[in-house]
Amino acid sequence: MNITLRQLQVFERVARRLSFTRAAEELYLTQPAVSMQIKQFEEAIGLPLFERLGKKIYLTRAGEELYRLSKTISRQLDEAEQLIEELKGADGGRLIVAVASTVHYFAIRLLADFCRRYPKVKVNFKVTNRKGLLQQLEDNEADIFLMGQPPEEIDVIAEAFMDNPLVIIAPVGHPLAEKRGISLVDLCSETFLMREQGSGTRTSVERFLTERGIGFHSSMEMNTNGAIKQGVEVGLGLGIVSIHTVEQELENHRLIVLDVESFPIMRQWYIVHRAGKRISGISLAFEDFVRTEGRRFVKFG
Ligand code: PGA
Repeated sequence: MNITLRQLQVFERVARRLSFTRAAEELYLTQPAVSMQIKQFEEAIGLPLFERLGKKIYLTRAGEELYRLSKTISRQLDEAEQLIEELKGADGGRLIVAVASTVHYFAIRLLADFCRRYPKVKVNFKVTNRKGLLQQLEDNEADIFLMGQPPEEIDVIAEAFMDNPLVIIAPVGHPLAEKRGISLVDLCSETFLMREQGSGTRTSVERFLTERGIGFHSSMEMNTNGAIKQGVEVGLGLGIVSIHTVEQELENHRLIVLDVESFPIMRQWYIVHRAGKRISGISLAFEDFVRTEGRRFVKFG
């Protein structure tokens, strides 16, 4: 059987996404290039790996078996690459960090300091919401994850390293700005700018409200913290966000935090990696840095 590592890599990506288009995007290839690699791979093997039913593609039995093996092979190749990088420089190597979109505000400062300490490190920094992080954990796409609640459905090693208070933000001059102990019922008629489905912040807020039997009258959905902050600033409504996403706006007096009963919703930030994953020296150094120095990079909470 005469197959190449590249074919295996392309096959693995198509199998993971069950889409030639998405695989092509992620591998920075054209779709015909991906189709050609798969065609040549199938010819080399002598069996079809995908079947098309309507608009969807599915793995054949042979495809499923090969996908299982290809995941192991690509993980091992990854580890080999990491090991070689490490051997090239004692304090360098490759570090892939995936963080929740809510974390990146302070994580970027933390990373800058870490890189000053380890100037040879090559970093890949990925920012996505909770749903995206769970997918990346599942697919073993990063060394270290910084996120809210660690998943129960994936076997991980997780350690809380800092509090993550969720607060209600309002524009400067909001009628409730000076009020203390605002009741949740008083807020029911306000419009809330909510994060998208798949956001950890949103899930926490929904759980909090359901536990108290409260529903807000109206809400608007926005899929970034940045849009929520701007929306609140220009008076579209109130927002519920991690205090770590609004530190600058609070310091510059562009937003305020309302004093609401039962708030902040107290969550925690976790540092997470897949159980059983080979952790490189630089990843261990990063974990240690987050654990011992993470708090230095936030002003509140
Ligand atoms: P998110 O943050 O709201 O950007 O998904 C993750 C989390 O808070 O769990």
